[in-house]
Amino acid sequence: MNDNFKAKAAQWDSPDKIAMTKKFLSEMLFNVNPMSSWKAMELGAGTGLVGLNVEPLVAKVVMVDTSESMLEVLKQKLHNEKKVEILHGEVFDYKKQDIDFVFSAMAFHHLTEVEKTLEHLATITKPGAWVVVGDLVAEDGSFHNFEPIPYCGFDTAVLSKQFVKSGFDVKMVKIYNVITRTVEEKTTNYEQFMLIAKRL
Ligand SMILES: C[S@@+](CC[C@H](N)C(=O)[O-])C[C@H]1O[C@@H](n2cnc3c(N)ncnc32)[C@H](O)[C@@H]1O
Repeated sequence: MNDNFKAKAAQWDSPDKIAMTKKFLSEMLFNVNPMSSWKAMELGAGTGLVGLNVEPLVAKVVMVDTSESMLEVLKQKLHNEKKVEILHGEVFDYKKQDIDFVFSAMAFHHLTEVEKTLEHLATITKPGAWVVVGDLVAEDGSFHNFEPIPYCGFDTAVLSKQFVKSGFDVKMVKIYNVITRTVEEKTTNYEQFMLIAKRL
């Protein structure tokens, strides 16, 4: 399994990443009220900047990531190991059908098979489960310095249709943050959307 985040893991928890994940958390928790009985899953959990803030609110969090080095950083930060299940691999490796809540911050553009992932999420979630995705709106590739990446952001109308096709009701799509970067005097705004869906 490729570890594309090996070089970044140790420095991942920077002030800008922490600020970015706080915005995601605050928007998500404004719209979804996790219950203490829920089994949650974070897809692309990385070092746990989002998931470790959700862990105290729910019964359990399954933290899924393909990067061993990001998960190594996460493991060093665990306080309540009994509540966290780490899955080093693809979400397709998870086969149970017991998830009440899935969330994912800035990981969807790294997935190679978004449609297949949504179809799989429909099989591992309970009816009525919430799915929250935060990611980039379609951009020109400059966010990753034009390096090859599965998705240069998303057309949220297309992504919404894919959710519906996979058996979800899309409840909300909104721009919740804008990242502004200036490179060689050129300033670009990258919008971040949040999509919230409920499993039918
Ligand atoms: C941009 S980072 C975001 C990490 C974390 N969600 C955050 O906001 O700090 C994307 C994460 O998705 C993970 N990832 C990429 N492809 C994946 C896949 N197919 N399945 C699970 N995780 C994946 C990467 O290893 C990385 O940790």
